Amino acid sequence: MDKTLLAKTAAAMVAKGKGVLAADESSGTCETRFKTINTPCTEESRRAYRGLLFTTPGIEQFISGVILFDETTRQKTTEGVLFPDYLAKKGILPGIKVDTGAKNLALCPGEKVTEGLDGLRERLAAYFKQGARFAKWRAVITIGEGEFTLPTHPCLYANAHALARYAALCQEASIVPMIEPEVLLDGGHAIERCEEVTEATLRATYAAMAAHNVSLEHLILKTSMVVSGKTNARQAGVDEVAERTVRVLKRTVPAAQPGVVFLSGGQSDVSATAHLNAMAAMGDLPWPLTFSYSRALQNPALNAWRGQSANVGAAQKAFHHRAKMNGLAAQGEWKTGLEKQAA
Ligand code: 13P
Repeated sequence: MDKTLLAKTAAAMVAKGKGVLAADESSGTCETRFKTINTPCTEESRRAYRGLLFTTPGIEQFISGVILFDETTRQKTTEGVLFPDYLAKKGILPGIKVDTGAKNLALCPGEKVTEGLDGLRERLAAYFKQGARFAKWRAVITIGEGEFTLPTHPCLYANAHALARYAALCQEASIVPMIEPEVLLDGGHAIERCEEVTEATLRATYAAMAAHNVSLEHLILKTSMVVSGKTNARQAGVDEVAERTVRVLKRTVPAAQPGVVFLSGGQSDVSATAHLNAMAAMGDLPWPLTFSYSRALQNPALNAWRGQSANVGAAQKAFHHRAKMNGLAAQGEWKTGLEKQAA
């Protein structure tokens, strides 16, 4: 465990005005995304698309790291450079998704537990050699109301336990763990319920980190924001989302931690930017806040690309724009007008 390297990596991930691109969609998720643009999902089309994102000129100003999927670590740019090497040369940290997915949690209908601990020590050692300096593990927490009140205690604690064991293995391998307990925004629940569940989730997560001797100084939290359930009639505004999210983080996330990043979770690209901006603008926080979006960074680029090499330039322009907007939002310096100027 190289604590100097871990501290350096974690600080670089949340450097001022920068955030992390999540490009670690599994091939199944990629297929779903590519279907929306009528593009076949093949090893080559995934390589071409990821290559388009990574080679966008100038993104290193706003992107500190990229979370890769296993397949992508062995793929190359058109010039034949392995993607992790290409990113590292550009000053962007290569990261890797190491969980093997959320599976049904036995005896807990409607809930999931994330798997992937078996053989993880060996996989982390191999990824480190390939250049990975941070790793991601996503736990999924579902809010349910009515007959089944979710999440249940076993779901919160099984996921927290797995996150802590993964985080400890990462630190042992000198790889910064990005722990991602995602509270899904699906459902008809009110934002108050999302706040309660997010708080309970983070409490369970940090209790497990302490129980497993995980070093808080060498850890990045990737969290969902506190938002209204997708189908709830009252959709909270930007300021309310920001206030509730920051309140929960202040209650639960130790000040020793080097940073907090957000997932977008199905929010529109501009909402995800506006929410981050409102939180960063509040100031007086013990840790830097920034983005680690997949959909909210990629959707405009994906829609501009549509699988056509002739559209690469337009797609890169769209990606650069979202990265820049989120880089500003991480400093509380984004304004709606900047979106219009670009349109
Ligand atoms: P979204 O920003 O699309 O939610 O993806 C982030 C992520 O990494 C999910 O694990």
